[in-house]
Formats: sequence, structure tokens, C-alpha cells
Amino acid sequence: MRYTSLVTGGAGFIGAHVARHLVQMKHQVVIIDDLSGGFESNIPTAAIFKKGSITDSAFVQEVFTQYRFDYVYHFAAYAAEGLSHFIRNFNYTNNLLGSINLINAAVNHEIKCFVFTSSIAVYGTQELPLSENQHPQPEDPYGIAKYAVEKDLECAHQLFGLPYIIFRPHNVYGPLQNIGDSYRNVVGIFMNQLLQQQPMTIFGDGTQQRAFTYIDDLAPYIAAAPAFAKAYHQVFNIGNDVAHTVNELAKAVAKSMNKEANISYLDAREEVKLAYATHKKFTAVFDPKPSTSLDQGLKQTARWVAQHGARQSSVFDPIEITKNLPPSWQ
Ligand SMILES: NC(=O)c1ccc[n+]([C@@H]2O[C@H](COP(=O)([O-])OP(=O)(O)OC[C@H]3O[C@@H](n4cnc5c(N)ncnc54)[C@H](O)[C@@H]3O)[C@@H](O)[C@H]2O)c1
Repeated sequence: MRYTSLVTGGAGFIGAHVARHLVQMKHQVVIIDDLSGGFESNIPTAAIFKKGSITDSAFVQEVFTQYRFDYVYHFAAYAAEGLSHFIRNFNYTNNLLGSINLINAAVNHEIKCFVFTSSIAVYGTQELPLSENQHPQPEDPYGIAKYAVEKDLECAHQLFGLPYIIFRPHNVYGPLQNIGDSYRNVVGIFMNQLLQQQPMTIFGDGTQQRAFTYIDDLAPYIAAAPAFAKAYHQVFNIGNDVAHTVNELAKAVAKSMNKEANISYLDAREEVKLAYATHKKFTAVFDPKPSTSLDQGLKQTARWVAQHGARQSSVFDPIEITKNLPPSWQ
């Protein structure tokens, strides 16, 4: 049987990789993306592209009526966690209400599984490593929106029987990532700065810790998830186990590009200082291959970045609150 899958945000980084895996799995793939953060060139040629926003419920309904989706893979969001404090209306409209349009359509069209990428941002500051057993306490509007969508899926499952699987990735990097967005994707920001002979900028003292996750350790498992019966109605942390400080990351990125590690430290911003997670639950169900090391993943990413060159960064407009906005974002 040939499945039909909707991939929202499929012109973006993770969505494009998952879409490629779905094409390889012989799914008919339909992509919805408004190109606010993605690129048409990321879309696999075999996929059907519908340009539009998930916040447009009429558009979402039209696409669901046109195709009979078996699966929905929902990636469309603006994933700028730090900036989300200052663009609250945009964040909740895009990341929460847009998701609700998709959940409504998924219920009405009785799809087989709704796969959602949440984030470990839902945890906030908690005992490490972050585990699915902990009760989420998100500390920023981005994490709050992600957790609200998780709860809404749970609710839609209980009342309407909507099948779902939730992943909570963290700090994903690799080829196809937008390196020109100065508000997010630290690996991309560093590479873009190095390409332009600028110092790498770090908020605070660089001792923040994150576990950076190479895209190939995540995308194939998300694409295959609906085939795993034990994954349904579960939440999984997904990503690398090994945490690094942002200072270590900067040095590793410079090494991957054969450049000097020049760093410029900026005032600390509001952020969770330590965030890495356990993946025992994911491993028990998906039995993944060993993870890609940071050096290996950065080498692959640097190769792709060198082929594609630097990208101009633009200022997010409109910023809704300027109070306490880091000066480098003004
Ligand atoms: N990259 C990470 O480290 C990471 C970590 C945790 C969770 N996530 C989640 O994974 C998903 C994909 O992230 P990514 O890194 O690929 O980001 P991305 O920006 O590369 O991809 C998101 C895509 O969604 C599109 N989009 C945004 N708003 C839209 C809208 N209203 N309608 C239609 N399309 C819209 C953008 O144009 C972009 O192509 C997001 O939901 C993000 O929150 C990412």
C-alpha cells in the first residue's frame, strides 16, 4: 500500500530530511511550508509543494480535502526559543494556533498518526539528564506553546481517538539548516560567522551545556515512527546523549572549518543553562544505531556549508517587546 503523508515545514531543515526519507519509503509526500524560514531548494523533487501557512485554516482544510493523508508529520514552527519572549503573539499564533488547525483537520479526516516534533524546551530547568518522567515546566513562550500542543494531542486522542507520537528533539544540526538566522541554530550561527571572518558570538561565559544532535541520528527514526506500535501515544526525547559546553562547541566548529576559534562574549541572555536529556525510552523502542560524534557531524555540516556559502541574516520584524531584548538582537 502506498501511504500519503503531509509534512509541514518540509522546506525547513528537519522537515526536508524527513520528507526525503518518506520519499525513499515510497510515500506520496505533500509539503506545506510558507517559506518563512525554509527554502524551496530543500524540498525533495518527488514531493508535492503547497505554499501556504498553517495559520490559514481554510488553506489547511483545502489541502486535507484534496489529499487523503494517512500520516501527518508536523514540523512547521518558528523555533527561536530565546527570541520567543519578545515575539509572544507571533509565537503562539504560529506555533500553537497553527498546530491546532492541523490537529482539527487531522481529527476531521481521521488520519492514522500525527507525528509532532515538540522540544526539550518543555522541561525548563530541572534535574539532569532530562527525562520523560519529569513534569514539564517550560520557561519561555516557545516551550509553553510546544507543551500546549502536546497536551492538545493527548486531549484529541482521548475524545476523538486521534493517534499520535511526540518527539522532543534538542540542538539538531546538519546540512540544509538555515545558517543565516541569527536568533537560533548555534552551529549554523558559528559557521556563518566564520565564513564571514567574524568572531563567533557567545551569550554569557559559554559554560552552558547542550547535547548537539546530528540530523541523521533523528530524521530516519521520526519518518519510520508510525510503524512502531509501541511508540503510539508516547513522548520520546530524541538526540545525542553527550553534552558539550558552548565554548567546546565553538572550538569544535572552528576545527571543522580549519579556522581559528575567535570568540566574542556578549552579556548573558535569559536561557536554561544546562539542558541535556536521557534517551533510554527512545532506545528501548527504536533500537537506534550509535550516534554520530560531534566532530564527525560537524565535519559533514562544514562540508555542506562550504559548498553553499554564507547567508545574510535579517532582523525579525516586528519585535513585539523591546524591554530586556539583548542588544545584539536590536
Ligand atoms: N532544530 C532543532 O534543534 C529543533 C529542536 C527541537 C525541536 N525542533 C522542532 O522541529 C521543527 C523543525 O525545526 P527546524 O530546525 O527544521 O526549523 P526550520 O526553520 O528549518 O523549519 C521550519 C519550517 O517551517 C516553516 N514554517 C514556519 N512557520 C510556518 C507556518 N506558519 N506555515 C507553514 N510553514 C511554516 C518554515 O518556513 C521552515 O521551512 C520545529 O517544530 C522545531 O520547533 C527543532
